[in-house]
Amino acid sequence: MEDKIINIKNLNYSYPDGTAALYDINLEIREGESLGIIGSNGAGKSTLLLHFNGILCGSGEIDIFGEKLTDKNLAQIRGAVGLVFQDPDSQLFMPTVSEDVGFGPRNMGMPEHEIDKSVHRALEEVDMLPALKRSSHHLSVGEKKRIAIATVLSMNPQILVMDEPSSNLDPKHRRELIVLLNRLKMTKIIATHDLDLIAQTCSRVVLMQEGKIIGGGSCPEFLAKAAALC
Ligand SMILES: Nc1ncnc2c1ncn2[C@@H]1O[C@H](COP(=O)(O)OP(=O)(O)OP(=O)(O)O)[C@@H](O)[C@H]1O
Ligand SMILES: [Mg+2]
Repeated sequence: MEDKIINIKNLNYSYPDGTAALYDINLEIREGESLGIIGSNGAGKSTLLLHFNGILCGSGEIDIFGEKLTDKNLAQIRGAVGLVFQDPDSQLFMPTVSEDVGFGPRNMGMPEHEIDKSVHRALEEVDMLPALKRSSHHLSVGEKKRIAIATVLSMNPQILVMDEPSSNLDPKHRRELIVLLNRLKMTKIIATHDLDLIAQTCSRVVLMQEGKIIGGGSCPEFLAKAAALC
């Protein structure tokens, strides 16, 4: 049995306007691993993360749970790979927080009483339960980020993919996020400029530059070397 949960081979991607964003990405991620992805603005981190659940589809091969990502298994993969977007406004679109956080589980056919439980649990995990009935659009930026994280936690995904999870969080909620990430035992992939968050939550890190993975290694050794490059 393979312990590779994600295997990316020769992935290239250009946006429709012709901007080349990923070049020949090769990356293996093992089950249960916490992988950090670092690199300067425009390095391609978000573009790469958007391939993990088929939002973007470049040339090359992506195997998830040992299966090639195709149109046929896309819905199933999206249920198992929870992606927190860099911009929470891309994630929140329902009239209330409760509907936003319940959207994923509802879409997966979870019974209503189970949905309620998972919405409450996810909101408690990000300290946002009091906002249950509020409109996501009227929240502060950091509050929106925490709700965006809850929309993914409520699905209890097998793979948690997070783009800048600590951006806009105040120090208390950033610390709580680190505790939460260390408690969650699923496979985690975290792209961020917050190198301290990576140091505290990830066992391995890869460095991207201009659309390529230019290095990688274990934390904290590689992180110390790479810090000057991102
Ligand atoms: N929708 C888009 N259309 C065209 N080009 C894009 C689009 N989104 C991103 N890009 C370009 O793709 C490249 C990679 O961008 P990406 O957002 O993946 O970088 P990033 O590493 O996540 O940066 P940041 O640290 O700022 O979040 C950049 O050159 C960017 O300008
Ligand atoms: Mg980004």
